[in-house]
Amino acid sequence: MDFHLSTQRPHSTQAGVVVVGIFDDGILSSAAAEIDEVAQGRLKSLIESGDLSSRLGAANLIHALPGVASPRVLVVGLGEQRKMDAARFLRVVRDSSKVLRGASATSAASYLPEIDVPGRDANWKAEQNLLLVDHGCYRYARTYKTSPEAPKLTSLSIPAAELPSDLPQRAQALAAGVRLTRELGNLPPNICNPAYLAEEAGHMADRHDDIDTEVLGRAQMETLGMGSLLAVGQGSANEPKMMVMNYSGAAKGNKPVVLVGKGVTFDSGGLSLKPGAGMEEMKFDMCGAATVFGVMEAVAGLKLPINLVGVVPAVENMPDGRSYRPSDVVTSMSGLTIEVLNTDAEGRLILCDALTYARRFEPSALVDIATLTGACVVALGSHATGLMSRDADLSDELRDAGERMMDRAWPLPLWDDYQSQLESGFADIANLGGKYAGAITAGCFLSRFTEGMRWAHLDIAGSAWDSGRKGNATGRPVGLLVEWLRSQA
Ligand code: BES
Ligand code: MN
Ligand code: ZN
Repeated sequence: MDFHLSTQRPHSTQAGVVVVGIFDDGILSSAAAEIDEVAQGRLKSLIESGDLSSRLGAANLIHALPGVASPRVLVVGLGEQRKMDAARFLRVVRDSSKVLRGASATSAASYLPEIDVPGRDANWKAEQNLLLVDHGCYRYARTYKTSPEAPKLTSLSIPAAELPSDLPQRAQALAAGVRLTRELGNLPPNICNPAYLAEEAGHMADRHDDIDTEVLGRAQMETLGMGSLLAVGQGSANEPKMMVMNYSGAAKGNKPVVLVGKGVTFDSGGLSLKPGAGMEEMKFDMCGAATVFGVMEAVAGLKLPINLVGVVPAVENMPDGRSYRPSDVVTSMSGLTIEVLNTDAEGRLILCDALTYARRFEPSALVDIATLTGACVVALGSHATGLMSRDADLSDELRDAGERMMDRAWPLPLWDDYQSQLESGFADIANLGGKYAGAITAGCFLSRFTEGMRWAHLDIAGSAWDSGRKGNATGRPVGLLVEWLRSQA
C-alpha cells in the first residue's frame, strides 16, 4: 500500500473513502464536525436518530453525503472522549481497517491521527494509523488459492500537519518488513523449507546493496562442530541450512547487533511426536526466522546507521529412521554436551549452536527470537511476547520499545534457582526442564550458551501468529525490534 501526506480537508479530498471519528454524547471530532457542517448537519441528525453508533470501534459507512467530494465517509465510534488512550486508538484504527479491507474504494484518507491521544505524539499516531491499515488490508500474497482475492485498497493518506515529509516512506519501510515476516510465516512447510529460506536470504542481498548473505550447509556446520543443530535436522530429507545476513549501515568498527531467529520450518516433534490436533500450526515454528528477515528488510529500507547481523538456523524436525532420539547425547558447538530427553524441545538445540556462532561478531547486543515454548503461551497468552534477559538495561530497552509500538513484551525471570531443573545424569545439561516454568527453563538453557554476552531472549510462541483455521502470522515482534534499533541509532 502507498502512504501519503495530504493537506486536503475531509470534505474536499478526492479519496474513495474518508475516515473520521465521533465520541459518545454527540461529540464530533474536528474532522467529523467539518463534514457535518458541509453536509448540513446530516451526521448530527443520524446520531440523534440512533443510526450512527459512537460505540468504541463501531464502523458506519455512509454513501453520498451532500457537499462531500468523496463518495464514502466511514464514521468510526471513539467511545467516551475522556477514556481515549493508546490502546483504544489502536482498537479504533484496527476495527476501521476491517471495513476498509472489505470496501470497494481503492484509496482512503484517514483523519483519525487528528484525535488527541494522551501521551502519544503526532508521529506515533500517524505511523500507527498507516501500519495498522496496511496490516488490516494484508492478504497473503503468495497464496496457492486458484482464484486469489486481490487487495482493493492500495493508497492511504493522512493529514500532513506537523509531520516530517519522509514519514510515509519510513512507515512504508517498516510495513514492508512486517509484511515479509507475515508472508514467510504463512507459507506452507512443503514450500518454505530450509532451502527456501536460504534463497530468500539471497534475495535479501540482491535487493539491498548494504546486505551480504552467506549460507552454511551441512558440511560447513559439521566442520564448525554444530552437533546439536545437526542432530535436530537428521530425520528430515531437507538439508539444514544456516543463513547469515550482514547489514552494514555504519563504519566497520561499530560492533553489530546480532539477531538470531528460530527457523524450524516444520516441527512435528520428531520421535517425541506431537499429537495430530493442531500440528498444522507448527508450520509457524519458523516465525523467529521470519522476524529476522522482516527486521533486516525494514532496517535496510530505513537505512539505519547501524551494523546488524541476522543469523537464521533452519531445520525441519521430523521422525525417521535417521532421527535423533530421546536419550541421545550430542555435542554442541560450544563444547557443552546435551542429553536429549525430548526431541520436541528442538528449538533450544538449534539456537544454542547459532548463539555460539554469533560470538564471532562480538555483538554489542544479541537477541534471539523464537517460537520456543507452549509454556510461554500458558503464562502470557497472545498479548505479550515473553522477554528474558539477565541484562536489566537491555530488558528495559526492549520492553519500552514494545510499549511504544504496542507490540509488547513482558519479563520472566532467569534466576539461577531454575538452572537445577536442567541437570542431567549423562551430559553437561539436559534439553528438558521438567513440568514447571517451561518458558523460563528454556531461557535458562539458552543462557548457558550466552555467558558474558549482552543477550536477551524473546519467546514469541503466543504472539507470532493467530491461532485457528484462518490464523495468519502477525508480523510480531518486528515493530518492537525495529523501534528498539532505531531508538539506538
Ligand atoms: N515449537 C514448539 C513450541 C510451541 C508449541 C509454540 C505450541 C507454539 C505453540 C517447541 O518446539 C516445542 O515443542 N516445545 C515443547 C517443549 C517441551 C517438549 C519441553 C513444548 O512447549 O511443549
Ligand atoms: Mn518442538
Ligand atoms: Zn519448535
